[in-house]
Amino acid sequence: MGAQQWKNKVVVITGASSGIGAALARAFARRGALLTLAARREDALATVARECEALGGQVRIVPTDVTRKEDCQRLIDTTVSTWGRLDVLINNAGISMRALFVETDLEVLEKVMAVNFWGTVYCTRYAIPHLLEARGTVVGISSIAGFKGLPARAAYSASKFAMNGFLETLRIETRRTGMHVLICAPGFTASNIRNTALTADGTPQGETPLQEEKLMSPDEVAEHTIRGMEKRRRYVILTLQGKLTVWLNKCFPGLMDRLVFNHMMKEKDSPLEKMKRWWP
Ligand SMILES: NC(=O)c1ccc[n+]([C@@H]2O[C@H](COP(=O)([O-])OP(=O)(O)OC[C@H]3O[C@@H](n4cnc5c(N)ncnc54)[C@H](OP(=O)(O)O)[C@@H]3O)[C@@H](O)[C@H]2O)c1
Repeated sequence: MGAQQWKNKVVVITGASSGIGAALARAFARRGALLTLAARREDALATVARECEALGGQVRIVPTDVTRKEDCQRLIDTTVSTWGRLDVLINNAGISMRALFVETDLEVLEKVMAVNFWGTVYCTRYAIPHLLEARGTVVGISSIAGFKGLPARAAYSASKFAMNGFLETLRIETRRTGMHVLICAPGFTASNIRNTALTADGTPQGETPLQEEKLMSPDEVAEHTIRGMEKRRRYVILTLQGKLTVWLNKCFPGLMDRLVFNHMMKEKDSPLEKMKRWWP
């Protein structure tokens, strides 16, 4: 078992052009997997594919917008026609947002749900006959925000809670089939996600309010995720802060509301500052 178990396994990764998805691709390449990498930016995918090939992986790239059902179908069909089977689907493609709900355009909420939730549902729906056949694994890269609401991230939290509900149901529904469902919830991880996060009117934020260099690395997230797959865990919850948030919230939800609010209030240029207008 261990690294050897992934040799010649067919692994589809969405959002593989950057961050955690690219790190997962490299980690599976090192283990000799047959990879299909998906995202919208073909040039960035090609760069990751070259890195993976240098590490020993075989790679097919399929430019994909996960909000389009036909793209997701093509991704899965191309994988099966290229490699002959499908063992692992990692639903990692995601975007974030940062704005007060009271100011956010509805289109922003719809867009985040379309990528994070519907993208996961579409890819999983097309992949599941193959995954059941292979007794394979479905992974959802969720977030701590899928366990505790994050202020000024309403659409993001909602999309990750929805992912969790969907994947948990799938886990129970496929019980006894041999298929494995893993929900991986990274804590804050250094990546591009806060640059591309949508603001209230849908334009990208273009900067990060966090000190990215102090966050967990995408490579570390990838290694934890793969270990969780090997141990057939139901959840992988990452970072000390993330673990504490999930655990404390189960026991002390009111206290956690206060702590989360105070923490997010201290963020650089916190949108929450503007809520003071409504404070009595
Ligand atoms: N970074 C964190 O702090 C953190 C924490 C918890 C969870 N996560 C989750 O981790 C996952 C990966 O995020 P990351 O941090 O690695 O961010 P990232 O570097 O911004 O990567 C996001 C990936 O998603 C892809 N993507 C976005 N929209 C897409 C679409 N419509 N169709 C297909 N692919 C799309 C992007 O590729 P293209 O632009 O080329 O399409 C990119 O490859 C996300 O689901 C995120 O919610 C991140």
